[in-house]
Amino acid sequence: MANPSLLILAGDGIGPEVMAEVKRIIGWMGAKRGIHFDVSEDLVGGAAYDVHGVPLSDATMAKAQAAFAVLLGAVGGPKYDKLDFSVKPERGLLRLRKEMDLFSNLRPAQCFDALADFSSLKRDVVAGLDIVIVRELTSGVYFGEPRGIFKEGNERVGINTQRYTESEIARVAKSAFELARKRGNKVCSMEKANVMESGILWRDVVQEVHDRDYPDVELSHMYADNGAMQLVRWPKQFDVIVTDNLFGDVLSDCAAMLTGSLGMLPSASLGAPMANGRPKALYEPVHGSAPDIAGTGRANPIACILSFAMALRYSFDQGDEATRIEKAVEKVLADGVRTADLMGPQDGTPVTTTQMGDAVLAALDASL
Ligand code: IPM
Ligand code: MG
Repeated sequence: MANPSLLILAGDGIGPEVMAEVKRIIGWMGAKRGIHFDVSEDLVGGAAYDVHGVPLSDATMAKAQAAFAVLLGAVGGPKYDKLDFSVKPERGLLRLRKEMDLFSNLRPAQCFDALADFSSLKRDVVAGLDIVIVRELTSGVYFGEPRGIFKEGNERVGINTQRYTESEIARVAKSAFELARKRGNKVCSMEKANVMESGILWRDVVQEVHDRDYPDVELSHMYADNGAMQLVRWPKQFDVIVTDNLFGDVLSDCAAMLTGSLGMLPSASLGAPMANGRPKALYEPVHGSAPDIAGTGRANPIACILSFAMALRYSFDQGDEATRIEKAVEKVLADGVRTADLMGPQDGTPVTTTQMGDAVLAALDASL
């Protein structure tokens, strides 16, 4: 039987550097666990623009649609800041999300014990933290029409539209309730129903889905600004947070930083089930392309490595191997191995991206 297909889109900035470490782990899975993938690689973001003049070619889009899973590094960089909006690197990522219809974006924020002191919050606020933000990813103000910069009298006006249909809200709510049942059984839904009609509808629909199909799950509602405040005040009150595309973008960066470093956090973007019963899926680290450190060997590959672990769990039915990778990462951190993002200025010499990869591979070997 053919091996399941995995499309790698390393992208820009530190994307290719962190992905290089993931490729070594993919190799390890083949050599040591007999788990093989049909891996192919392609371009996205600025890297695609440089070659094709667009941040995602139609051929790459077709490959992504056909793959069991897509693993993405990062997109964007200052070199592309002046490009027309329609061909900016970010549009490549947004096209993948939209056309693959990846409506449910899981962004876990988990605090590794060894890093609790590294958070900008006090240890007892973050130690043991384990929450997931479920961000709607294919609609809302990111995609709503009308949008653009228009002339109005003698000045310009910038317009974006927040738009949600009932079915778009219902399907992401459902995915949050399903996830909560496998965890702490609690969902907090965040919007701005105090100022936005789309927020009122959001709150209504989430409540309806709950009352009809998930009465066993504890549901609460919060205005998103209060949610941001509660996330830094006492994040452990949450289990699963479900929210729209824009609030989810902001709140997930906030939640990520609670854990000490953006460089640690993976994400999964899931859509409807494919013929194989598994959801359409794209996995990517939450961090961006970090152009300031690209090429210096300072990038932390852990978020990308953990994104691959999520792929093993959600797309390839290899939950045990996903756990093996997560435990290996935990061990490496407990042993004090640190990339630059996990250190204070006085904490000594950080390991390089490759050395962190070495350490994870050694911990994987030790797990056998
Ligand atoms: C994210 C990023 C993206 C977003 C950018 C790169 C388009 O910030 O995945 O959170 O805004 O969704
Ligand atoms: Mg973001």
